[in-house]
Amino acid sequence: MKAVRIHATGGLDVLKYEEVSDPVCRDNEVLVGIKSISINFSDVLIRRGEYPYMPDFPAILGSESSGEVQQVGSQVEHVKVGDRVIVFGHPSYCTLAAVPATKVVPFPDNVDFDAAAALPIIYLTAYHMLHTVRRVQPGETVLIYAAAGGVGTATIQLGRIAGLKMIGLTSQDEKAKLIKEMGIDHVINYRTEPVVERVREITAGKGADLILDCVAGENFGDNFRMLNTLGQVIWFGIADGNPTTDLLKAIGRDPSQSYGVSMFHLFSVMKNPQLSAESFATLIRYLAEGKIAPIIYRKVPLEHAHEAHKILEDHENTGKVILNP
Ligand SMILES: NC(=O)c1ccc[n+]([C@@H]2O[C@H](COP(=O)([O-])OP(=O)(O)OC[C@H]3O[C@@H](n4cnc5c(N)ncnc54)[C@H](OP(=O)(O)O)[C@@H]3O)[C@@H](O)[C@H]2O)c1
Repeated sequence: MKAVRIHATGGLDVLKYEEVSDPVCRDNEVLVGIKSISINFSDVLIRRGEYPYMPDFPAILGSESSGEVQQVGSQVEHVKVGDRVIVFGHPSYCTLAAVPATKVVPFPDNVDFDAAAALPIIYLTAYHMLHTVRRVQPGETVLIYAAAGGVGTATIQLGRIAGLKMIGLTSQDEKAKLIKEMGIDHVINYRTEPVVERVREITAGKGADLILDCVAGENFGDNFRMLNTLGQVIWFGIADGNPTTDLLKAIGRDPSQSYGVSMFHLFSVMKNPQLSAESFATLIRYLAEGKIAPIIYRKVPLEHAHEAHKILEDHENTGKVILNP
């Protein structure tokens, strides 16, 4: 089979499109012919060697895809040959994957392979930040960093279902236009507008009830200048590096505000099979009912995975970039 592997961390040139041996399907596994692969910013971080959880090399990148079942192990009962399935797990930048049966979920006929592949990571992340970590209430205001990205656009769609008011941050006016069309209430271009002042203005001086920050870095402390009383910051990414803020000092500056700070990683949900299965079922239902629909920005052939990574690194995408074998 064909696969995109990395043998070492580095730039775009470490992504190698190679012939590798076909995987063997064990008793508790499913062999899937991959049709669509969803790429995530974490794939870029792994390629660059900046992710907290690094694979052994050589590694086939990626952690979500969709395809057709080609073979099932003797212990597998919930899917059969020919079923269309989402694979939520490694590997995915390849044409054939043998994966544990627990990572394979059938999806409805009215959903296409690209939308199915794009579902797990961005929607589960958005869903659990809104409903498990914060338990949002209708009418609350959420400030979304990287609002035009994969998680950002998933958050906008789920935020609408939850009745939230939403403010998004982006670096480009074109992306701002697209997410306004998706129904976000306000967009701030953080390259050209003063973010803290604009958020305070939009919220009539109160600040946001929830801030979803995947950028962090040096400006993380700004969150506490635009957070409502009893508001919460959820830190879930390191696009600009680890936060440099003295957190206890930041939240203790005005005790009467009772600020909350949480860290979120999707692995925490995966550790709880019931929580993850229930939310996954809800999201597949929303997808089948047309309540959510992943925004597909570009489809790139698998052998050109480097182009897909470049799109993400250049901040170019609105929504998801898909690889097709
Ligand atoms: N904790 C978790 O479980 C979890 C799960 C999924 C994703 N994440 C994190 O969530 C973030 C978004 O993921 P995604 O897959 O939705 O990514 P994405 O679609 O590629 O969106 C990334 C966007 O982030 C913005 N950005 C701001 N500062 C950036 C920087 N220094 N470098 C690159 N991009 C920057 C860019 O948009 P603008 O230029 O418009 O700002 C960029 O387009 C990533 O940081 C990812 O690691 C975390």
